[in-house]
Amino acid sequence: MSASPVQPARDLLGLQGLSGDDVTALLDAAADMKKRSKEGRVKLDDLAGRTACLLFFEPSTRTMNSFAAAARALSADVVVFTAGSTSATAKGETLVDTAANLEAIGADVFVLRHMSSGAPHLLAKWLREMRRDVPAPGVVNAGDGWHEHPTQALLDMMTLREHFDRLRGLKVAILGDILHSRVARSNVWGLTACGAHVTLVAPPAWIPEGYESLRATDDVAGTVSVSSDINEVLGKSDAVMALRIQKERLGGEPGPSGGAFAAELGLTAERVRSTGPKCVIMHPGPINRGVELASEVADSEQSIILKQVANGVFVRMAMLAMCARGAKAGKKA
Ligand code: NCD
Repeated sequence: MSASPVQPARDLLGLQGLSGDDVTALLDAAADMKKRSKEGRVKLDDLAGRTACLLFFEPSTRTMNSFAAAARALSADVVVFTAGSTSATAKGETLVDTAANLEAIGADVFVLRHMSSGAPHLLAKWLREMRRDVPAPGVVNAGDGWHEHPTQALLDMMTLREHFDRLRGLKVAILGDILHSRVARSNVWGLTACGAHVTLVAPPAWIPEGYESLRATDDVAGTVSVSSDINEVLGKSDAVMALRIQKERLGGEPGPSGGAFAAELGLTAERVRSTGPKCVIMHPGPINRGVELASEVADSEQSIILKQVANGVFVRMAMLAMCARGAKAGKKA
């Protein structure tokens, strides 16, 4: 983040380094949006006359449509760019040139998803340097490579906080391909900043080296630990988040077969029975049914997956409004 989120911040680049108070302020802003919009039934005018430009260089169903819905719910105009065979990316145009051209068409805030870790940081820096005399658009990270996915983690935390009425002391297991997951990284930083205890469950090859550094550095922060014994962890968790194998990030390695993964780590109905009925099941989507998550578990009463998706709109409304306000605050007289 370029500034404390309690003040107007122009960019939301990640949750790493934020304090528990910072993360709580972001969650409170999302809860406030949910309340003000009467759970999405009322359109607000916070971004009337502003344009949100969504730049998606990787596939997306939930995140892109959730940002678009959030921008519209705040009365913004929305421009959507998806890199692919019909865009000039296929002709060799760079990210920065793409953004510069879309800004010339009109953009007050960019939302960027990119396969390269650090791409939103690069874009934010470039915009600041190039646009010294006028307010530069804010940048919201919608997922950069294996690095961060801050709005996903915030919607996960918002849903947990609504369900349990707290984050401090909660025991959250994150299970699956942690190494390649930006969702896992942002969640560990955000959850531990708020005092939750996270256990990463995966074979050693899928645990990032130095995983302890994913923990927030605040004195009061929660903990992060590792286990390869799924059954033991399930019995002790308040929430279990399953992650799919990030095949697109395996660099040509075949990775485990769906069957092998399901046998070792899959959340089957039988495994979930050992959690007790109060444990909630989460997933950022897209689900590979029958691999990391059995269908009957995904659709069970314990699943809060669609509540996560619904809360995503309020998180993104709050973050778009914050970054647009930040850009306005940066305006030169
Ligand atoms: C995640 C992502 O793109 O990182 N999905 C999402 O944004 N809802 C997780 C994934 O793709 O596995």
